Amino acid sequence: MLHFRGLWVGSGKISSKLKRFLRIQLGLSIRLLMDLPRKLSTIYARGHQTPANSDLSLRRRLPRVLVVDDNPNTMSLMQDLLSSRGYDVVAFPDAAQAEIEILRHPPDLVLSDVVMPGKSGYELCRELKENPATRLIPFVLITGLSEREDRVRGIEAGADDFLNKPIFPEELFARVKSLIKLKEFTDELETAESILCTLGLSVESRDPYTEGHCERLAENASNLGRYLRLEEDEITALRRGGYLHDLGKIAVPDDILKKGANLTPEEWAVMKRHPITGETICRPLKSLRLVLPIIRSHHEHFNGSGYPDALQGRNIPVLARVLQVVDVYDALRTARPYKPALSHEQAAITMRDEGRAGLWDEELVTEFFSMLEKQRQVA
Ligand SMILES: [Fe+2]
Repeated sequence: MLHFRGLWVGSGKISSKLKRFLRIQLGLSIRLLMDLPRKLSTIYARGHQTPANSDLSLRRRLPRVLVVDDNPNTMSLMQDLLSSRGYDVVAFPDAAQAEIEILRHPPDLVLSDVVMPGKSGYELCRELKENPATRLIPFVLITGLSEREDRVRGIEAGADDFLNKPIFPEELFARVKSLIKLKEFTDELETAESILCTLGLSVESRDPYTEGHCERLAENASNLGRYLRLEEDEITALRRGGYLHDLGKIAVPDDILKKGANLTPEEWAVMKRHPITGETICRPLKSLRLVLPIIRSHHEHFNGSGYPDALQGRNIPVLARVLQVVDVYDALRTARPYKPALSHEQAAITMRDEGRAGLWDEELVTEFFSMLEKQRQVA
């Protein structure tokens, strides 16, 4: 099961901006781009279930605004005003009901009163901002309070903006319009990320012997990151790295990719370019900043014998070393045309030997097997 948020691509249109981005970054033809949504949907649909609350199509739809206010007059005023400007508006009298709806059908914007019976607007805001599935939904607190401390409290809860009561329609429209625009931009970036990750899966699909490799890597690498108590954004980077680390193989011809072993020096040179190609493709997306070192350095060796930069020891970025340990284990445990799959015990012996020989970070190898051992005890 995929945990990467938004890792799906619908069957509808992809925007011209996104097509331009992909054309420039990947050198893909217009024809392929036109066909991309269908192809990617197929790749995704093969092994994954789309979340029930996902909007499967990227077709144009009215921006959805969710209003929470216990005052029925304010609630219906907002509903009327926003509907008159073409927004799809849903309104709820309390935070608990609103939250259920937000999780079920995420809106593009939340406008919330602060003081309400039950959960306050601050609490609702904080909970949504702490949840990875809802944290990117812009949240506006509507308040009659103008005290500085109340605004500070709202900012601390993660509110994106404030509106004062009484509400002036023009101010409401301006805020809503600009935040919806921001949300569209965020959605587009997420879609670009999703497409890149799905392309990562499409690279995997070219090699029948690596099926499920990206998903296992994403799962195990993020688990190891959590086990090592890394920061949340580093754990997210590890998960994405699972899908994106070999994206550069998109530029490696099939006959080289599927050969696996006994590559000629020329073929090997082509293969060794994939970390840099992958990094180049992903570099324009700032949200993938922490993933870039993983992509570039996942074939470095602790003793400096790896590629592409022959980095040594701790000069190899830690996230790349983490993903590498998980990657090596997965490769050892999987059968390939030129080698059988090793058992867990055989893989552990091999990796410890190779760690001692200078290939892998021995400390991380130890941590990885200790994590697997704990997982086995719990299971
Ligand atoms: Fe690789």
